[in-house]
Amino acid sequence: MTMTNPFDQLFNRKNTRSYKWDDMKKLFGSSELLALWVADMDFGCPPAVRKAVTERAEMGIYGYTFFSDEYYGAITSWYSRRHGWSIDPKWIGNSPTVVTSISIAVELLSSPGDSVVIQTPVYPPFYEVIEDNGRIVAKNPLVIRNERFEMDLPHLETLFQNGAKLMILCSPHNPGGRVWTEEELRALGALCLQYGVTVIADEIHCDLTFPGHKHTPFASLSAELSDRTITCTAATKTFNLPGIQTSYFITANKELKQRFDKRLQVLGLNYPHHFAEAAIVAAYTEGEEWLDGLLDYVKGNLDFAVDYLSEHLPEVKPLRPEGTYLLWVDCRGLGIESGKLKKWMVEEAKVAFSLGSAFGTEGAGWLRMNLAAPRAIVEQALKQFCEAGRLALK
Ligand SMILES: Cc1ncc(COP(=O)(O)O)c(C=O)c1O
Repeated sequence: MTMTNPFDQLFNRKNTRSYKWDDMKKLFGSSELLALWVADMDFGCPPAVRKAVTERAEMGIYGYTFFSDEYYGAITSWYSRRHGWSIDPKWIGNSPTVVTSISIAVELLSSPGDSVVIQTPVYPPFYEVIEDNGRIVAKNPLVIRNERFEMDLPHLETLFQNGAKLMILCSPHNPGGRVWTEEELRALGALCLQYGVTVIADEIHCDLTFPGHKHTPFASLSAELSDRTITCTAATKTFNLPGIQTSYFITANKELKQRFDKRLQVLGLNYPHHFAEAAIVAAYTEGEEWLDGLLDYVKGNLDFAVDYLSEHLPEVKPLRPEGTYLLWVDCRGLGIESGKLKKWMVEEAKVAFSLGSAFGTEGAGWLRMNLAAPRAIVEQALKQFCEAGRLALK
């Protein structure tokens, strides 16, 4: 008897108010595309999460709530087990989303007109939380070496020498899929200590790593770095819960933690979502097996996609990710002007991948494909994309 893989199950998410499937017209001008863009998965959540949320829904009263010790225990135990990082529960604060936390951190840790460093191409909201808070983006572009992104530390040092005191680190990196090694992070950390730079570490992809690559929490590197780092993260990417709008931040810096909590209170963001604790505790205490299955499945999708592209459209070149479920693909070999790539993708390939140019000027001519979908969807999207690509090359 052949066992069916639960990740092969097709969910019809159309007409469910899914941002990914039902709101793409705004961004792509069509709603009839295969949606492999925003980083949300087309897989059912772990069964334990579904059960816990259903039970909570059945209460029928959705009043104000708070996080209990069980919640903090579930987080600390997860980091100790999966990442070897020992966290004091007092270091943890809560915020609706990671982007909320990063935005507040930028506000609290810099002044208008200050430079904030990001390593580009990178997750688009990093630009907004800097610029819309009246700060200046200081780009430290990543370089492609050995078919992967690497940090340009000599260039970074010049930004620090020119006065940048705050940096947003994306670890693992979106869209490049790098799982920074401990050695790379130590070298970065040494520069931050030398120049007195504070780090906002966005580690939302920390649990999504492929075999042979281990995530190192930046703040776990040393007590000094821990004191000048605020880690912004969540269980929502790992377990496909982003609509529950719950995230947390971790900092050993007591004063920063107090200021952060106060700011959240002033903004009225200090009460958790009614379903948050139920979902997180179930995910962290009973979702481990599901996560291992997910990683295995996504790795299968990744191998499939890389092989498929190399066989059917070798003119486009993916960077093989070490983590995340995102594939960053260099499409410049198709000979389509970068300004016309979106129109071609929508009208000819009929797929919605994220446009590389949204991640910074370095992303022009690139696309980002979301591989967290049943194989049948990934395969169909690749087929459409490669067929259109072959026609474009004629
Ligand atoms: C690097 C990174 N940070 C943050 C987020 C979004 O997190 P949230 O919805 O909690 O703001 C994403 C989502 O794709 C992401 O890739």
